[in-house]
Amino acid sequence: MKSSIGLIGLAVMGENLVLNLESKGYSVAVYNRTTSKVDSFIQGRAKGKHITGTYSLEELVENLESPRKVMMMVKAGEAVDKTIEALIPLLDKGDIIIDGGNSNYEDTGRRLKYVESKQLLYIGTGVSGGEEGALKGPSIMPGGSPEAWPLVKPIFQAISAKVGEVPCCDWIGKGGAGHFVKMVHNGIEYGDMELICEIYDIMRKLLQLDPKKMEQVFSEWNKSVLDSYLIEITKDIMAFMDEDGTPLVDHILDSAGQKGTGKWTGIEALKAGVPLTLIVESVFARSVSSQREERLVASKVFPATAITPVEDQQTFITMLEKALYAAKIISYAQGFALIKSAGETNDWDLDLGNIALLWRGGCIIRSAFLDKISKAFMSKKDLPNLILDPYFLKILMENQESLRKVVATAILNGIPTPSLSAALSWFDSYRCDNLPANLLQAQRDYFGAHTYERIDKKRGEFFHTNWTGHG
Ligand code: NAP
Ligand code: ATR
Repeated sequence: MKSSIGLIGLAVMGENLVLNLESKGYSVAVYNRTTSKVDSFIQGRAKGKHITGTYSLEELVENLESPRKVMMMVKAGEAVDKTIEALIPLLDKGDIIIDGGNSNYEDTGRRLKYVESKQLLYIGTGVSGGEEGALKGPSIMPGGSPEAWPLVKPIFQAISAKVGEVPCCDWIGKGGAGHFVKMVHNGIEYGDMELICEIYDIMRKLLQLDPKKMEQVFSEWNKSVLDSYLIEITKDIMAFMDEDGTPLVDHILDSAGQKGTGKWTGIEALKAGVPLTLIVESVFARSVSSQREERLVASKVFPATAITPVEDQQTFITMLEKALYAAKIISYAQGFALIKSAGETNDWDLDLGNIALLWRGGCIIRSAFLDKISKAFMSKKDLPNLILDPYFLKILMENQESLRKVVATAILNGIPTPSLSAALSWFDSYRCDNLPANLLQAQRDYFGAHTYERIDKKRGEFFHTNWTGHG
């Protein structure tokens, strides 16, 4: 009996995806470069299941039903190229190579062209949700050769997370669209996490709340519009005690790591000229946090600003909730603007409403609020920006004052709020009909004869002034 699908790469994600596939009735042939891992998997977690261990790519390929579906869950980068190169001579016309790792979308576009030139099909898919998601149901974002989608659709939708009956997996688009959307998803995750961290920082430094009290606050918020996985785990973190009975979070060093997908998202936004200020600030917030030694020196020479306690704590906590929701809306508005722009540039024909649905389950950014985003884009396909949707517009009208007061109070008290501030600055710029770019254009024309347009003339009519020639 041949297997329904093959999987290469038995690390955390690969092993769990295999067990998920098998639990949904698919037989799986597996291979790992270090073949001792095949043995330990087959004799361990895979024992008694419809999982076949193989010890070479040739053996893996021979064990697969036609058209063959071979999924790679190997380390992103060179390992993917090497595996593709080794697989190509072993496969037949119409077979499908799938990359489920966190590959860069441009690499995926390049690999797709190469694999298709060999008469094979290619899918680059985002798989989100970490170890638990891979085992119990991840969010899956596939893109690549459109002809491959009907062949893998039943398998992917069977193993993905579900919200009600709706699978958190659907076709994203051609080329590297799947990996692009996964990348922005990770950027949004950076933004969501940083926003919660900034609100936590204000609660502990300004309101002097202890983690126990913050647990209650996050618990309440998790029953509101902020209902989400990240608020839920933050609540749990607040309640978690170290061995000495004090909150563990207070003992954790304030220096964050990053694997790079947030940075990629920022780079793509700069390349496309799409303001993604909140996510970029959240990437830099991690960078500043990692400069711990320098910060310690600076903290000695620039003593902390004295805190002025707020008078009505409960009112301020309500403002924090509203500010967090407003900033979160702005972050998603920016993230979806980047996806929209990439879809147009690359002719991917993306369905933004559908993409929002894929993130409702299985992944770290899952939240109730994604339903609202989906509705916004589904009701108006050409919505220029999420904040112009009537629902989000109303919320921002109601919550912007809280965001303003929270940011202003934090700034006056010397508490850093890079992402909350970025949200507000972008909002104030986006809804402004009179930015100071008139002066900027004048400066450009002054030193570089770059020309400018005039408000009293038609768009597209350019003027140059000899700024030093008279007066
Ligand atoms: P990983 O640590 O990224 O990769 C380890 C796997 O890659 C092992 O099977 C390893 O084989 C194989 N590998 C490395 N170099 C290779 C090469 N040159 N040739 C062939 N195989 C090679 O594993 P992971 O954490 O399970 O992640 C897999 C992919 O999913 C990555 O792209 C990752 O970014 C992505 N992802 C991970 C998560 C997560 O939470 N971990 C979530 C979503 C997506 P050996 O055993 O022989 O070294
Ligand atoms: P998923 O698709 O499930 O979100 P992922 O893309 O591998 O999985 O990343 C999961 C989350 O864990 C991300 O926020 C990731 O942040 P980075 O992109 O900065 O890595 C975070 N994460 C994973 N490994 C990390 C590490 N070593 N240090 C800090 N954060 C890490």
